[in-house]
Amino acid sequence: MAHLPLIFAHRGASAAAPENTLPAFARALELGSDGIELDVQCSKDGRLVVIHDFEVDKTTGAHGRVREFTAAELARMDAGSHFNPAFAGTGIPLLDDVLDLVGDRCLINVEIKSLDPMGGDEVDLLAALIRQRNLYDQVIVSSFNPISLIKMRWSDARVRLGLLYGRELPPYLQQAWLSPIIRPEALHPHFSLVNEGTMEHARAHGCAVNVWTVNDVAEARRLAALGVDSIITDVPDQIRAGLRAA
Ligand code: G3P
Ligand code: CA
Repeated sequence: MAHLPLIFAHRGASAAAPENTLPAFARALELGSDGIELDVQCSKDGRLVVIHDFEVDKTTGAHGRVREFTAAELARMDAGSHFNPAFAGTGIPLLDDVLDLVGDRCLINVEIKSLDPMGGDEVDLLAALIRQRNLYDQVIVSSFNPISLIKMRWSDARVRLGLLYGRELPPYLQQAWLSPIIRPEALHPHFSLVNEGTMEHARAHGCAVNVWTVNDVAEARRLAALGVDSIITDVPDQIRAGLRAA
């Protein structure tokens, strides 16, 4: 296959290790991923922590909202056993921990998860981190919440933005956010929404197209043939091997 999209490990290599944990990100690096995708939220004490759900219940067996716990309390939770007892004691990491682990070895797609419809304080915390660590070339910030992206754009215009959307958004809105208000560098559509029209529309607006979450090789080949820039997947090794073999 002539065009090989970049491969991003969704929540780390989440088919091989517990999602959004240091082992999952380490595994993603071992598997040669071009990038990792992860979800960030704000803890009770104002730290960026890496977890997908707004509650800790699904991955830790504890109960309550992420926001109700300090980063130290979240780090002490067991976010590994639900996946496999071999990962028992794996805590919920800080975004700082992940950045320290990854260094400059791969790209990072940071998805802001916020319960605040007005964007949340995650935006300011993340903007400060990107600035302090000079991550402008390594990080893209994504969100389903356009307000979060607008806040990030106003906070620091150098941060690259990816607009997430899926089927729940009416078709007329799926690409309307390309308006001058946000001007994202990339669209992040659910893979099932991507066709030639999507690609033409994105290119006309100078946007990359990064698709999620693709775990099927045949689907990855279809998307690669369309020219998508990145594929976000739980199985980065399988998708890369499948594309190379095409
Ligand atoms: O970034 C794409 C994908 O992660 C969005 O869906 O629910 O896995 O965060 P979700
Ligand atoms: Ca995500």
